Amino acid sequence: METVKVNASKNYDVIIGVDTVALLGKKINEMFPGATVCVVSDSTVARLHMQTVRRNLEQYGIKNSSFVFEHGEGSKNPEVLFEILEYLAQKHFTRDDVLVALGGGVTGDITGLAAALYMRGMHLVQMPTTLLAMVDSSVGGKTAVNLKAGKNLAGVFNQPELVLCDTKMLSTLPRPYFNDGMAEVIKYGVIADKELFDLTAQGNPERNIEKIITRCVTIKRDIVCSDEFDHGKRQLLNFGHTIAHAIEKISDFKFSHGSAVAVGMVIISDMANKNGLSEDNCCNDIIDALLENNLPIGCPYSTKEIFHATVNDKKCSGEKITIIIPKKIGECKLMQVTLSEFERMLG
Ligand SMILES: NC(=O)c1ccc[n+]([C@@H]2O[C@H](COP(=O)([O-])OP(=O)(O)OC[C@H]3O[C@@H](n4cnc5c(N)ncnc54)[C@H](O)[C@@H]3O)[C@@H](O)[C@H]2O)c1
Repeated sequence: METVKVNASKNYDVIIGVDTVALLGKKINEMFPGATVCVVSDSTVARLHMQTVRRNLEQYGIKNSSFVFEHGEGSKNPEVLFEILEYLAQKHFTRDDVLVALGGGVTGDITGLAAALYMRGMHLVQMPTTLLAMVDSSVGGKTAVNLKAGKNLAGVFNQPELVLCDTKMLSTLPRPYFNDGMAEVIKYGVIADKELFDLTAQGNPERNIEKIITRCVTIKRDIVCSDEFDHGKRQLLNFGHTIAHAIEKISDFKFSHGSAVAVGMVIISDMANKNGLSEDNCCNDIIDALLENNLPIGCPYSTKEIFHATVNDKKCSGEKITIIIPKKIGECKLMQVTLSEFERMLG
C-alpha cells in the first residue's frame, strides 16, 4: 500500500493499494467522529461495490445511506446534482457529515460539487473506481457538471479530505475503460516521467498497477500544488486534450475521452516534430506506447475540421491558444500561439 500526501488548500492523503476500502470506516471515525455518511455512486458501480463499502461503514458503527444515479456522462448535469442536494436535505445531513464519491470521474465530479454546495460545504472522500479517476480526476479538486453549452461549465475547486484508491475494484472495470485510463497514464509519462513512460510502453500495465497509479498521483500532486487554480503549470495536464476535446465534439462523443486523448497526443507531437519544436522526435515513441496499450493513433477527421472544433473550445483566450508541446519524453512546455500560427503548424 502506498500513500501520497497532498498539501494544497486542504491537506489530504491519497492511499493506493489492494483493499483500501477496508480503511474507510476507521479513517472516517478518526477524521470525522460522529459523522453520518452518504455514499454517492452510479448504477453500475453501486451494483458491484456498494455493499462492500456500506458493510465496512456498518462494521465501524457509522450511520450511512446511499444515493445512486444512472451511470454515464449523461448524468453529470445540474438536475442530478440538485437531486443529490435535495436528498441530503430530506435526510437531514449537516455540514459535519461526509459524502463519499464511489465511482469514476462522473461520480467524483458531481459528488465533489455537491459536497462543496450543500450547506456551503460538507466533508468529501473520493473512492475512485476507474483507472482514469484513480490517476486523474479524484485528485486535484476540480469538480463540475456539464451544461447544455458544454462540458464542465459549472463547477468549483473543492479538494477532497481523503482519497482511497482500491486497485481491486479495477478487476470489474471493462477493458475499454481501463485502456482510456492508460491514455492518461501515458500522458503523465510524456509530460513528466520517462521511467513511467518506458514502463507503460512495455504493455501489460496490470503487473505494475499500484506503482503506476502512485507515480501518476505524485506527478499530479506536484503540478496541482504549484498551480492549484489552473493559471499556468497545471495546463501541462492538458497535453493532447485540446485536440481531444475537438475530436470528442466532432464525433458527437462516440470517441471516448481516452481514445481522443491518445489521438490528440499523436497529432500534437507530430506537429511539434514537423515544426522543429521538439528536441527528440517523440511522436514514434508515443505511437508505440499507445499501440501497446490498445489505444488508437488516428481518427477519420481532417486537420481542418479538428482546427475549427479546437478554436471553439473553452481553452482559447482571445486570438491566442495555449498548446502543450513535448520537448522530449518526460518534459513538456506551454506555448502560446495565435490561432493562425496554430492552423499553419497543424498543416
Ligand atoms: N475532475 C477532474 O480533474 C477530471 C479529470 C479528468 C476527467 N474528469 C471527468 O471524468 C469523467 C470521466 O471519468 P470516467 O472515465 O471514470 O467515467 P465514468 O465515471 O462515467 O465511468 C465509466 C464507466 O465505467 C463504469 N465503472 C466505473 N468503475 C467501474 C468498476 N470498477 N467496474 C465496472 N464498471 C465501472 C461506470 O459505471 C461508467 O459506466 C468525465 O466527466 C470527465 O470530464 C474529471
